[in-house]
Amino acid sequence: MEKMTSADLIAMEDKHGAHNYHPLEVVLKRGEGVHVWDVEGKQYYDFLSAYSAVNQGHCHPKIVSAMVDQAKRLTLTSRAFYNDSLGPYEKFMTEYFGFDKVLPMNTGAEAVETAIKLCRKWAYEKNNIAEDQAKIIVCENNFHGRTTTIVSFSNDPVARKNFGPFTDGFIRIPYNDLEALEEALKQENVAGFLVEPIQGEAGVYVPDEGYLSKAKELCAANGTLFIADEVQTGVARTGRLLAVDHEEVKPDILILGKALSGGAYPVSAVLANDNIMQVIKPGQHGSTFGGNPVAAKVAVAALEVVTEERLAENAERLGQLFRKEMNRIIAGTDIVNAVRGKGLLNAILINDTEESETAWNLCVALKENGLLAKPTHGNIIRFAPPLVMTEEELMECVSIIERTINEFKK
Ligand SMILES: Cc1ncc(COP(=O)(O)O)c(C=O)c1O
Repeated sequence: MEKMTSADLIAMEDKHGAHNYHPLEVVLKRGEGVHVWDVEGKQYYDFLSAYSAVNQGHCHPKIVSAMVDQAKRLTLTSRAFYNDSLGPYEKFMTEYFGFDKVLPMNTGAEAVETAIKLCRKWAYEKNNIAEDQAKIIVCENNFHGRTTTIVSFSNDPVARKNFGPFTDGFIRIPYNDLEALEEALKQENVAGFLVEPIQGEAGVYVPDEGYLSKAKELCAANGTLFIADEVQTGVARTGRLLAVDHEEVKPDILILGKALSGGAYPVSAVLANDNIMQVIKPGQHGSTFGGNPVAAKVAVAALEVVTEERLAENAERLGQLFRKEMNRIIAGTDIVNAVRGKGLLNAILINDTEESETAWNLCVALKENGLLAKPTHGNIIRFAPPLVMTEEELMECVSIIERTINEFKK
C-alpha cells in the first residue's frame, strides 16, 4: 500500500468518521515528551496535551512499560472476579489523595455521572431528602462531559440542541458568585454543589481567590456535598496536585480523569470517604472496564511520575514564567488582550469577537511555526503543554508564540 499523506488521512476520516469534531489540520503519528510528529515527519510542541490528559508527556516510558507489562499478563477480568492489581491501586489512590475509598471508572463523563448518582443516593439515604427530589447546584458555562444527563445541565446551545428531553434535578447559578450559591442553598432538597475549580472548557476562567474555600464552607454549613470536578484541573496541571489545594479545600467527592493515566489509557475515578461511598452496594453501579488491571497499573505509574518528577512544582514555576512572558508580548500587540490561568493551564484572549476566525487562524499559524494549540471558545486559545516541559523548551515556545503573533495579519 502506498504511504498515506496527511491529506489522504484527513479525507479518510471525513468520509468514514462521524463529524463530531473539527480538528486542526495536522495528522500526528508519534509523540515523545513535549513533542509530537506528523505523518510527514514535521515536529511540533504539543500545547494542548490532549486536553490536559498528557500531563506526564507523550509515551512516558514508565507509564508505557507498566501498561505493556500488565497487558501481557492480564487485561480484563471484569468486576465479577477480583484481580491482583485493583486492591493495590485502590490502596495507593486513596492514600495519595487522602480519601477512604475510590470508585474506578474509565472516562471523565462516566466519573461525573458516578458522582451525581453517589450524591443523590447519599441524599436519600443519609440526608433525609425525599425520593426523587434531590437537586444538585451547577454553574453556568460548566463543562462536565457529553452524556444525556450532563448536557441536561449545560447551557451551551451547541452541546444541547436536539438532544432533549433532559434530566431534571439541577439548579444552575453563575460561576464565581458566592451570593448566588448562598441563595441556591436555601432552596429545598439541595444535595450537592458540582463545580470545576477552574472552568477549563469555558475558556480557563479562574474564580476569585477565596471562592472555593468559601463555597465549601457554605456547603458544609448547609449539609450539602461539595463535589469538585478535577478531570481537567487535577493531577498537577494548575501547579498543585489538585486545583482545590490552592485554597486548602477538601471536597466531599473528588472526580478525576484524563492525566490519571498520563493519556495512555482511559482511567477515571471518584473518591469519597466511607460515610458517602458506602451508600453504593453491589449491583447498584459499575462498569465492565472500570478498575481493570491495565488501568490500575497505568494510574499508579502515572501518579508516581507526578511525584518523582515534581510536576506540580514545575507547572507552578513555568506557569508564572509563561504568564509573565505573555504579558510582555501582550503589551506590544493589539491581537491579544490578556492572559489568565494557573500553573500550566492558561489561555490568551484574542482581541476579536467570539464569532471571528482570528483565534482559529492564529492556531493555524502557530501550527505552521511548530506549536499545536486550539481555541476553546471563539476568541480564546488554551495553552496547556505537558508538565514535563523544561524552562528552555518553554522559552522556545514563547518565542514561537511571539513570532507568530507579530507576523499575524487578521
Ligand atoms: C472538567 C471536565 N469534566 C469532565 C470532562 C469529560 O471528560 P471525558 O471527555 O473523558 O468524558 C472534561 C473533558 O474535557 C472536563 O474538562
